[in-house]
Amino acid sequence: MGFPEGFLWGAATAAYQIEGAANEDGRAPSIWDTFSHTPGRVLAGDTGDVAADHYRRWPEDLASMAELGLNAYRFSISWSRVLPEGTHGPLNRKGVDFYSRLIDGLLEHGIAPVATLYHWDLPQDLEDAGGWPVRDTAFRFAEYAERIGRELGDRVRMWTTLNEPWCSAFLGYASGVHAPGRTDPAAALAAAHHLNLGHGLAVRALRGVVSPDARHSVTLNLHHLRGDPEAVRRVDAVANRIFLGPMLGTGYPADLLEDTAPITDWSFVRDGDAGTCAPLIDVLGVNYYQPTLVSLGPSSAEPGADGHAVSEATPFVGCEDVAFLPQEGEHTAMGWVVDATGLDEMLLRLHRDHPGLPLMVTENGAAFDDTVDGDGRVRDERRIAYLRDHVAAAERALDAGVDLRGYFAWSLMDNFEWSYGYSRRFGIIHVDYATGTRTWKDSAFWYRDLIATGGPGR
Ligand code: NOJ
Repeated sequence: MGFPEGFLWGAATAAYQIEGAANEDGRAPSIWDTFSHTPGRVLAGDTGDVAADHYRRWPEDLASMAELGLNAYRFSISWSRVLPEGTHGPLNRKGVDFYSRLIDGLLEHGIAPVATLYHWDLPQDLEDAGGWPVRDTAFRFAEYAERIGRELGDRVRMWTTLNEPWCSAFLGYASGVHAPGRTDPAAALAAAHHLNLGHGLAVRALRGVVSPDARHSVTLNLHHLRGDPEAVRRVDAVANRIFLGPMLGTGYPADLLEDTAPITDWSFVRDGDAGTCAPLIDVLGVNYYQPTLVSLGPSSAEPGADGHAVSEATPFVGCEDVAFLPQEGEHTAMGWVVDATGLDEMLLRLHRDHPGLPLMVTENGAAFDDTVDGDGRVRDERRIAYLRDHVAAAERALDAGVDLRGYFAWSLMDNFEWSYGYSRRFGIIHVDYATGTRTWKDSAFWYRDLIATGGPGR
């Protein structure tokens, strides 16, 4: 058994985390530019102004992808680089050309481009007009999708609308640890709905303009929950089923509406939205890092599956009586527990609940405090062990019958880890931020060899 022919072995990145060139060639600010430039929001005052300088160094990064033997690369398009005001107006030609050249380069090396339209960087002008809590943003997103689809849709055959909309809605508008940094639970629930709507509208818009054989997806950070069943149910509703339901056609779960009734009456959902949110997707992207352990108890704003900075306000709205418990075992530099069993359990659950839906692990990886040794090597054995165990979990899922299409390591290179700035290194390639120098970590060599041999079971 093991990994089938045609399985996608990839690595993933996101625009704001790697590109830099924040003020160049006509790019306009996104909410992350504003947020990172606001004192106290990001550790050490780090910003994405320069990041890994990928906007300039992409040919070198592309060469690394080819040497790694990747057959897919997941990246995101910066909305405000290609459509600076977020809507109307002409496309920014220099911005579009950047992605166009990157895509051509990938194709020349036989690497399938997997393009994500939205990895958290809303154009600031759209936030000023209300952001995701406002319905119009969903339509602006679909407009952007259609316009960029027309430009790149002849060559990109795998499109992802949103990356981790849970983070956009709840870290952005409820706990406020992500841009735009608001703490308004009702606004966060409205944002979640408009992200669902934007996803549906964007898939429809893309299907009208891109190559007919292109595949369409969304990437979710589903929380793999363990612990007290009532606590699990509550978090599952507001973190997982709030997106799975509408996007896969069963609508908002009744228990979610009940649990959140004290916060909102959901009047932002209009007639017909249920159908709009649920165009058929061809594959569901799953980002997995760790399981989440919960119980009923005093409220705790401790990090969940995505484990971002602790805030006074919980991102798990409607779960104020749920405690997030520390977990035994090894932890990464994010403080996240290392436990690969959550990955195959999660994939199996999705396979069981949504039979016939192809799945892809669109992110998996770990941050450790890596350093370049005197001999130029980065000895990141713990990352190798983490990746090896999770690839093995992916293989277990395949062997159990899950239709898993690909695995993407997060990340190709060290980058701007949102509110943690540059203090957390997830790359398989080390970046020296002072010079821009890239150094393959031992995990990059390991991943190259794994891909060359076709995965563990082959
Ligand atoms: C998920 C996000 O998509 C990505 O941007 C982030 O860097 C990783 N998780 C690690 O936190």
